[in-house]
Amino acid sequence: MTDESGRIRAALDAAYASAAKLTSGKNADYIPFLAGVPSGLFGLAVVTVDGAVYEQGDTRYEFAIESISKVSTLAAAIEEVGPEQLRAKVGADPTGMPFNSVIALELHDDRPLSPLVNAGAMATVSLLQAPDAEARWAKILAMQSRLAGRPIRISDEVNRSEQTTNFHNRAIAWLLYSGGNMFCDPMEACDVYTRQCSTLVTAVDLAVAGATLANGGTNPLTHEAVLKSDNVPPILAEMMMEGLYDSAGDWAFEVGVPAKSGVGGGLVAVVPGKLAIAGFAPPLDAVGNSVKAQAGVAAIAKALGCNLFRADATA
Ligand code: DON
Repeated sequence: MTDESGRIRAALDAAYASAAKLTSGKNADYIPFLAGVPSGLFGLAVVTVDGAVYEQGDTRYEFAIESISKVSTLAAAIEEVGPEQLRAKVGADPTGMPFNSVIALELHDDRPLSPLVNAGAMATVSLLQAPDAEARWAKILAMQSRLAGRPIRISDEVNRSEQTTNFHNRAIAWLLYSGGNMFCDPMEACDVYTRQCSTLVTAVDLAVAGATLANGGTNPLTHEAVLKSDNVPPILAEMMMEGLYDSAGDWAFEVGVPAKSGVGGGLVAVVPGKLAIAGFAPPLDAVGNSVKAQAGVAAIAKALGCNLFRADATA
């Protein structure tokens, strides 16, 4: 075992043992499927830019990607229209409000501000060039698969659960449309956004996707150049600003690496040039971020000296 792999293994094991003891939080219940996922599941995974994979716990359990899909769709859109179009049409600022806030839209002339909240994610879906919903969906699913390095599939059960309850998101899509900030049919964007949230991933998939971003856009396991390296920093900037919603500032303050969470219980953090750390555990805090995944990922990042704001970052 090299020094580096010993260090990562030790950090992973210690973080897992301490975060596993946490008992607070509650599964998301506004999407019926998520309420029924076993609450005791917990996995942590690290993937380096050299393609080494480290895992502990339930790292191969497939769960709903939810909001973490927003990163893949952002990547697909930036590849197509470039970072400046994306910033001009969607934005790059935190809303400071919950991920599905209507008030945030009202306060900013119906502009979504960030591709990592529901409004901005649907606007980002609408930016992709596609003749119909199926073509739009195919592009998004392909990007999720290329980032994870394996074919990702939709769960019909999760999708049905979300499509039949996503009235709030439909309202947001129409508000965007009325404000001139939706670039395809709003119900098509909402439908495809809902599908993108309903795919199944594992903690290892998230860590591989994160490691692809850490590696300048080239997947360290498949060696495919998924993204142009110039397109990665804007994606990570968006994650730093809004990846954990109203906790993004606290996360930056405490951990100092870009990350993204989802209400399915997943979380992925990216350390550019080095590695990615992913966690999965369904119970969420009041903001909508996984309690154990946040604690576990943060502990690994701290143990490995990952904070990007430190002059002596060591990861
Ligand atoms: O649109 C929604 O509400 C869900 N499909 C995803 C939201 C989500 O994961 C927010 N995350 N923390």
